[in-house]
Amino acid sequence: MLRVCVCVSGGGTNLQALMDAIDAGQVTNTQIVRVISNNKGAYALERARKKGIDAVAVSPKDYGDRETFNEAFLECVDAAEPDLVVLAGFLVVLPPEMIRKYEGRIINIHPALIPSFCGKGFYGLKVHEAALARGVKITGATVHFVDEGTDTGPIILQKAVEVLSGDTPEALQRRVMEQAEWVILPQAVNMIANGLL
Ligand code: GAR
Repeated sequence: MLRVCVCVSGGGTNLQALMDAIDAGQVTNTQIVRVISNNKGAYALERARKKGIDAVAVSPKDYGDRETFNEAFLECVDAAEPDLVVLAGFLVVLPPEMIRKYEGRIINIHPALIPSFCGKGFYGLKVHEAALARGVKITGATVHFVDEGTDTGPIILQKAVEVLSGDTPEALQRRVMEQAEWVILPQAVNMIANGLL
């Protein structure tokens, strides 16, 4: 069984997609052992608790400085003894110490086709605003390993999604989630859990 710790910041629809895929048997040999949010009010925590999954908030607001928060966050991850850490809409920069400790064992979902619309400042809706501003006709999502850069680690899976005329950032975000993110994130976890990578 692959022990997975999922890190979230907001709505948690990617977490939901992963939990649903496990329930449906599309992702096998996988157990979500803990969900961690940097944001106490994240609906993702509620989604996890509804499934009986241990869900914890570790908020930077509760710590005097970044270093103390980083230590507490890493302790919270370590305590779950995960084989894999999944960043599913996690909008905090990971402590470099954690990236080194979990090298090759952290994956992230990004809502664009890397290397487009990625790196510092490209997260959430901003990614789709930038894609629309540039006028691309195809966008999508990427699952990749996390290294010390921002969205620079080795790519595991990508899926393309059409941009339609009249798209708002919100409409495009929803299509990218439905057609790409919720498909390739569970797929990537299943590949790792079953030694298919
Ligand atoms: C998702 O679109 C995810 O790809 C994005 O945040 C959203 C979280 O949604 N992540 C990033 O932008 C990371 N750079 P969710 O909480 O509903 O899964």
